[in-house]
Amino acid sequence: MNSIQLLAAAFVLGLVQLASGQVVSTGQCQNYPVHVNFDVERYLGLWYEIRRYEQVFQRGGECVTAEYSLNDDGSVRVFNSMMVPPSQVRSSDTGRAVVAFPDQSPLEAKLNVTFDAGVADVSANYWVLGTDYDNYAVVWGCFGVADTLRAESAWVLSRTPQLSAQAEAAVQQYVDEFLNESDLRPTIQDGEFCCSIDPAITTYPPCQ
Ligand SMILES: *[C@@H]1O[C@H](CO)[C@@H](O)[C@H](O)[C@H]1NC(C)=O
Ligand SMILES: *[C@@H]1O[C@H](CO)[C@@H](O)[C@H](O)[C@H]1NC(C)=O
Repeated sequence: MNSIQLLAAAFVLGLVQLASGQVVSTGQCQNYPVHVNFDVERYLGLWYEIRRYEQVFQRGGECVTAEYSLNDDGSVRVFNSMMVPPSQVRSSDTGRAVVAFPDQSPLEAKLNVTFDAGVADVSANYWVLGTDYDNYAVVWGCFGVADTLRAESAWVLSRTPQLSAQAEAAVQQYVDEFLNESDLRPTIQDGEFCCSIDPAITTYPPCQ
């Protein structure tokens, strides 16, 4: 790359970091195998974030949840919510996801997610490496720049604020194979810590 390309790459990567991937390294995005025969309907609903690669847009966020539902046009509505302690006020972001290659058979769990980042829509890939729908999901995304840099995102999600030992063991296999343990930060999901000050928000118990 010449210096102009490098500058351009750094700029794009800056945007990408803002939008999605947080673990930046050299090399192309890996083509990891994903969950197949993906059942979007079963994937919908509420997920608690258990661990993640830290993200600019999630910096310091705890008590993170993601809620997936269907839009009228068949796309998936993505509703992410969190609080940044010591504030107990929750903030949220709404995005839209579509299956990346809908004509594929068997269907791969690859989604394209778009968030409105103010100036422009920011798109990222969202690949479900593994899920059993009822307990856990391991999600990974990667954005490559000019074949030489990549920014990766990862989330471990759970249907309950804590993973069962069995689900944890299943998750760990994906972590060992595809993710970097030391880049994964735990997300606080303690009910008392995450308690809800807003009666309209019932994902956590009300604060005493
Ligand atoms: C999703 O993104 C990929 C590129 O990462 C693109 O090839 C594919 O066409 C997109 N799918 C949809 C439905 O927009
Ligand atoms: C995992 O992350 C640590 C800390 O960011 C880093 O030093 C290490 O090189 C990474 N390992 C791999 C295999 O990428």
